[in-house]
Amino acid sequence: MARLKTAVLISGRGSNMLALAEAARDPAYPAEIALVLSNRPAAAGLDSARALGIEALAIAHKEYPDRAAFDRAVSAALKARGIELVALAGFMRILTPGFIADWRGRMLNIHPSLLPKYPGLDTHARAIAAGDREAGCTVHVVTEELDDGPIVAQARVPLEPSDTAQTLAARVLVAEHGLYPQALALHAQALLTSGNRGQEPSPTPSPRA
Ligand code: GAR
Repeated sequence: MARLKTAVLISGRGSNMLALAEAARDPAYPAEIALVLSNRPAAAGLDSARALGIEALAIAHKEYPDRAAFDRAVSAALKARGIELVALAGFMRILTPGFIADWRGRMLNIHPSLLPKYPGLDTHARAIAAGDREAGCTVHVVTEELDDGPIVAQARVPLEPSDTAQTLAARVLVAEHGLYPQALALHAQALLTSGNRGQEPSPTPSPRA
């Protein structure tokens, strides 16, 4: 069974990464987690990945002069390992257009709101302040716009009147752990089915007569 070589990019705890790694233990899952990469060397998720026998790599953004240089280093590390699909999971970096172009259609992100509501930070506090009755999370294909791009899947959770940002975040996080493995599988399977799995540029169309 074909499986896409997948990298999970994190900045911290890595609980979504662990949910993806757990799902990918099933040999029938269409993605294998081949690499966990963090821009923060102290990210707890790196140790969790190593404990599972997954390669864990830190590329510290602070060691690069600008965003473009950091993004080029990350892209090069992914390509050197034959990565075919990228899952952003709490990767708290704004990506450059060059990086997004490198992984167009092959990079997903999970965001803790029902996009298009509340892109950016403090999603739970904003949902509470707005008086929303429900909250949730979204997995989407990454495009140039922050927390935008075609939605692969969403999960909804009720927002209770007694919720704080912390209690809501905890409830949404449980939903994230259910949603991301399903969404990544959907997207990986679609790429495999379309035959669009590799880094190679699309073949040059033959000249029209
Ligand atoms: C998750 O809640 C994820 O949705 C959020 O960061 C958390 C990472 O937790 N991502 C964003 O806010 C991206 N805009 P984790 O490290 O335990 O997976």
